[in-house]
Amino acid sequence: MASFIDFSQPSFWISAASITFNPTFWNIAARQEYHNKVITKLLGGNSHLGCYALAITIFSLGIFRDYLFNSALDNQPTHPLLAETPIKLSAIPLFLTGNTLVLTSMYALGITGTYLGDYFGILMDAPVTSFPFNVTDAPMYHGSTLSFLATAIWRGRPAGVLLTALVAAAYAVARMYEDPFTSMIYKKREEEREAGKKGL
Ligand SMILES: *[C@@H]1O[C@H](CO)[C@@H](O)[C@H](O)[C@H]1NC(C)=O
Repeated sequence: MASFIDFSQPSFWISAASITFNPTFWNIAARQEYHNKVITKLLGGNSHLGCYALAITIFSLGIFRDYLFNSALDNQPTHPLLAETPIKLSAIPLFLTGNTLVLTSMYALGITGTYLGDYFGILMDAPVTSFPFNVTDAPMYHGSTLSFLATAIWRGRPAGVLLTALVAAAYAVARMYEDPFTSMIYKKREEEREAGKKGL
């Protein structure tokens, strides 16, 4: 396997760094917002504006990460196994599934729901349970991972498959931080709602 991945290419490591950096960045930014309202303060106290600014930043970092991933694959060898027709063609349904999961979850959540609005105090009225949330618990992350895998297979690069594994690992770590934190934010809201009822 190792001879099919050229670890001496700086572009491989740059891509790996951006894959690791992105979820790290948005988690630190979102927690800073939650605890100290850093982004909202930067945008003159408007939390919706703050969330949109973070959304644009995360979205742009994602485009850049995809660009670095593709550039890294340009400098990597191909493997004949991945060029086998059935394997190569499997990239198409993987890509379509991945993109469907990402786009439909964005549509279901909206901009603020997709881009960490809950850390800004912009909460959803109720948890989204419609498609694609009824087929997978983290459609955005799983969809994104599938799209990376599809690109790696389509381009026949084992290095792309390895970088995809890093994407999956980075998302798994991100979810270990995000999922309990998000639950805590909503639990707090429930408690406040209950307290509000009692106050009446
Ligand atoms: C998820 O929801 C979609 C549309 O709302 C529906 O067509 C599909 O059957 C549901 N899937 C599951 C596994 O419940």
